[in-house]
Amino acid sequence: MRWPQRIADSKAARDLAARRRVRRIVARRDGMRVEVDGRELLNFCSNDYLGLSQHPQVVAALRDGCVEGVGSTASALVCGHFAVHDALEREMADWLQAPAALLFGSGFTANLAALQALLHGGDTCVQDRLNPASLIDAAKLSGATLRRYPHGDAEGAARQLATHEGDGLALIATDGVFSMDGDVAPLRELATLARTHDALLYVDDAHGIGVLGPDGRGSVADAGLATRDVPLQLATLGKALGTYGAIVAGDADLVGHLAETARGHVYSTALPPALAAAALAAVRVARASDDRRAVLRSLVARFREAALDAGLDLLPSGTPIQAVMAYDDRIALRMARVLEDAGVWVSAIRPPTVPEGRARLRVTLTALHRASDVDMLVDALARARDAAHAVTSAGPA
Ligand SMILES: Cc1ncc(COP(=O)(O)O)c(C=O)c1O
Repeated sequence: MRWPQRIADSKAARDLAARRRVRRIVARRDGMRVEVDGRELLNFCSNDYLGLSQHPQVVAALRDGCVEGVGSTASALVCGHFAVHDALEREMADWLQAPAALLFGSGFTANLAALQALLHGGDTCVQDRLNPASLIDAAKLSGATLRRYPHGDAEGAARQLATHEGDGLALIATDGVFSMDGDVAPLRELATLARTHDALLYVDDAHGIGVLGPDGRGSVADAGLATRDVPLQLATLGKALGTYGAIVAGDADLVGHLAETARGHVYSTALPPALAAAALAAVRVARASDDRRAVLRSLVARFREAALDAGLDLLPSGTPIQAVMAYDDRIALRMARVLEDAGVWVSAIRPPTVPEGRARLRVTLTALHRASDVDMLVDALARARDAAHAVTSAGPA
């Protein structure tokens, strides 16, 4: 086989399975109103849960932060670690009540780099089946044995841990809030399990930070846990914090180990200082945003009540991530198209992002949505479901 053939075959297979993916161009945004392909849409797919990506203080910090230059010019260990990076790490450690924090270029990089730096061949990495690609890839690349347990099943995790033998070490990795389902991991049970098996618990809280827990400290704090229970947690800066990058926070020795050995940190140019300044401003706003979190909680409750009343098939979730199940890829795509015609942007999520037969519309709510936006969304979703099923029962599209 030659390269053009391989690429064409892959594309044909995605075509056949209705799994082509396209990037849409956002021409303009104002709050949750965006312009896409010349049409104004109400956005229900961004992870900007607190609406901080456009917050005046965050935008001003970015602007002011680049007066002396844009790029950090090198990796952190060379000459790319500026005072503002240090201030951001300290602020995050303080917020999360962790002894130390380390900045990475993105959450994907941080997961890959952290797990690879911690795990060796002969170790066992136990993971929730619905963990994100970066955690799964990280375990595979580390050379450790990857064992996955059924979603949210701490007893399943215990069974997988029990298979661990030899001199290697064990690590349990889980999302705090699951990115496609919106539910929260059984963190207290996993922490107990980790303690009894001398395993290290790593929590990816990309979608919990800023949203859950006291002062928005995330799912770990919400579960009443601390660094002694969860020695390392990932906080991304590109979701509720509205900027870009990621922090791994936790035990000082572990974080120190990552600072010197995590390849995605050591061998990658540090985040532009202005972005660190914007993230620092965002963290300060997020810490004091109980009002935004209260709005978000009330929108989530409003959405769930109305959606269940309308007979929509929701997964259990109390977070701003609300999965409206379609199961079938084509139904999900049709629903997304009907919604767009109604001026609502919700992405259809299909395998391999979710398991086979679990296609859905992933709705995300933010503090910038209004109650009337949510009512309009539910109405549009119910009509989209009816329209998509009417087409299906009338025959193939
Ligand atoms: C649970 C989870 N972890 C990590 C990441 C990666 O973070 P980033 O977007 O900062 O690379 C994502 C998605 O983006 C995610 O959903």
